[in-house]
Amino acid sequence: MKKDIHLDMPSWMADILDQKNGEEYFKEHRSNLDGGGIYLKYFFLNEIKKSNRSFSKCFEWCAGLGEIGLKLLQEGVIENLVLADINKVAIEKSIEITKKMGLSNKVKHYISDGLNDIPNTEKFDLVVGNPPNYFNIQKDHSLGKMFYADLRPLDKGWKVHKNFYDNISRYLTKDSLILIEEVELFKKEVFIVDRDIPYDIRPEEPILTFSNMIKENNLKILDIKLIHNFDGIECYFLKICEHKV
Ligand SMILES: C[S@@+](CC[C@H](N)C(=O)[O-])C[C@H]1O[C@@H](n2cnc3c(N)ncnc32)[C@H](O)[C@@H]1O
Repeated sequence: MKKDIHLDMPSWMADILDQKNGEEYFKEHRSNLDGGGIYLKYFFLNEIKKSNRSFSKCFEWCAGLGEIGLKLLQEGVIENLVLADINKVAIEKSIEITKKMGLSNKVKHYISDGLNDIPNTEKFDLVVGNPPNYFNIQKDHSLGKMFYADLRPLDKGWKVHKNFYDNISRYLTKDSLILIEEVELFKKEVFIVDRDIPYDIRPEEPILTFSNMIKENNLKILDIKLIHNFDGIECYFLKICEHKV
């Protein structure tokens, strides 16, 4: 039940795919620390490949185990990677995984609440993220009772998003690209499994809130792309760049 929230690829299928590709590094840590990277990494990889350029340094915001960024690094679309998450356990496990993958010389890890502990000297030409996507998970919802306080899905008051959009510009190089995954951008209420009680209630359509944050910080939305629809739950990519005058 828990795994189905973010997954259109059952975890056993992802595990088989990893086995086939010789990539079983994440398996034992996913149950507590995966937030969708297990399958979203393939969507990120495809989208970034389409830009037909290689990136020198990528930042994965809200990285958890860093499954998305590490995939990009493995596939050679980025040269270096910075991973950050507020969860110390996730970052410790990610450091172990990175070592097992033989990529430690290209990856830096930070335990950081949003961007607060990322040094200003870090500069990125690519930023990716699968942040917590829900504003106010309902305790009386059948899944909400498990997740209403979970760091992975919950961004109470959109504080994590605000911290990101208010601060990311100072880390960007010229011609940088930001690619963020979001859930149900156009709905104030999100229904998952239960059809009578919403899983999440937002104050307005998140696209309005995020657009304002983006605009206020001199950034610009290049594209909003539906990447998949699983059981009626729509997931999107927000493609963003700096607004040049
Ligand atoms: C949806 S999960 C995504 C995890 C991973 N990127 C993936 O795709 O599986 C969101 C992640 O955001 C992290 N997070 C939540 N609040 C945060 C904050 N204030 N600062 C940094 N990371 C945060 C959580 O610990 C969790 O790892």
